[in-house]
Amino acid sequence: MARNTAYVCQSCGHEALRWGGQCAGCGEWNTLVEAPKEAPAAPAGGGRLGRAKGAAAKPVALRDVSAPATERHFTGIAELDRVLGGGLVPGSLVLLGGSPGIGKSTLTGMALGNMAAAGRKTLYVSGEESAAQVRMRAQRLGDGALSVPVITETSLENVLATLEAERPDACVIDSIQTLHSQGMTGAPGSVGQVREAANAILEVAKRIGSAVILVGHVTKEGAVAGPRVLEHLVDCVLFFEGERERSFRTLRALKNRFGATSEVGVFEMRGGGLVEVEDPSARFVGEASTAAGSCVLCSMEGTRPLLVEVQALVAPTEIVPPRRVANGVDRNRLAMILAVLARHGGPGLASADVFVNIAGGVRVDEPGADLAVALAVVSAHRGEPLADVSGSPLACFGEVGLTGELRSVGHADRRLAEASKFGLAPVLGPVEREPIKGLSPHATIRAALSAACERHSSARAA
Ligand SMILES: Nc1ncnc2c1ncn2[C@@H]1O[C@H](COP(=O)(O)OP(=O)(O)OP(=O)(O)O)[C@@H](O)[C@H]1O
Ligand SMILES: [Mg+2]
Repeated sequence: MARNTAYVCQSCGHEALRWGGQCAGCGEWNTLVEAPKEAPAAPAGGGRLGRAKGAAAKPVALRDVSAPATERHFTGIAELDRVLGGGLVPGSLVLLGGSPGIGKSTLTGMALGNMAAAGRKTLYVSGEESAAQVRMRAQRLGDGALSVPVITETSLENVLATLEAERPDACVIDSIQTLHSQGMTGAPGSVGQVREAANAILEVAKRIGSAVILVGHVTKEGAVAGPRVLEHLVDCVLFFEGERERSFRTLRALKNRFGATSEVGVFEMRGGGLVEVEDPSARFVGEASTAAGSCVLCSMEGTRPLLVEVQALVAPTEIVPPRRVANGVDRNRLAMILAVLARHGGPGLASADVFVNIAGGVRVDEPGADLAVALAVVSAHRGEPLADVSGSPLACFGEVGLTGELRSVGHADRRLAEASKFGLAPVLGPVEREPIKGLSPHATIRAALSAACERHSSARAA
């Protein structure tokens, strides 16, 4: 008799016929859990096993496919709308991931509140908190949030029935890991349950044209739990991150079927909810220190230039190998920059601990940050500030190549325009094809280092 259960890895979703201590898919230990096999497809669809005969579908030229222009729903939070690519698309599924307590419920509660205030039909499904708790948060967020209808429900079937009955324009499910399907045996939050729940919601959302935001928890490795399974399924994956102790939070899109994934929204958590930070550069530059080991990076967050402060500390080490701690930049990238410095005109730091931090809890994931990291480290090592006579910090950008050359990165003009807005000029950077106003171009890291150090000696002489 055919078995109707399989062993599913809770980490990668790999299915095995027999239980084993280690998953053959991802190598994790103790992650296999018995779960019912996926139900065979309906007779019309052609089952996997029985190979039922299917009816041939008629392909249609894309030109002839009817695509009614659907209006997007604006959430009333400009930064969120921008990251979504211009509002929520009706019938789409958005996954919002983030670590505990980062403000996922606050953000979604505010979005629904604004939409309710704008006359849209909304629904908030809370599986984690009681209605009273949700109300307490809504009171902080204001009147709009209080008018959002809420249900506290963890049964997938009941949630689906409510969606069908209410047909909201926008719905938030907080969180997908708490939903539990009666037809499945796995615990809520297991891969099977999460996948089943997301699939069922996707089907209903597309049919009734609701935009659904699924709130998802992240695992300790930082992936949205129910790994990968969900990310393929949904239209848009948003990630809300930041340090809990710091008030800045950034929202970025990891995947977006309706817009660019490079957009980033910056928020600050306050008593009255999340406040959009419209001009984050002003905050970061205003707070930038003029001490040794600090410089300003002209980075790009999606299509928006952002000035952030890069700080470094170099201290004699007591351990072998020495510590390399990178917050907000890639650790491997830091190791590479230190190696290039050692080889091409910078200090050798084999016997020093190096710490690099992007102030404000921001993450910069672009090679354009290399030069700023290099200059901050050299400045920290020498104990010489990079600020000029007037105390204005040094701004720079550029990728450092393995042969010690400075390579150009995208949007040099916008980076420079943002820097000049804050009176930061000249900006050290790579040689561009055409000269740009405010740019002090250098072909190699060696040349950029000596230019930065000259700045220090002229500041001291003045
Ligand atoms: N009165 C307040 N003033 C300022 N910040 C507050 C206040 N109350 C709560 N917060 C912030 O809101 C955060 C919780 O927000 P929220 O419940 O939206 O997070 P969440 O991501 O949904 O968390 P969970 O993972 O528990 O669902 C807290 O960590 C805290 O930083
Ligand atoms: Mg929450």
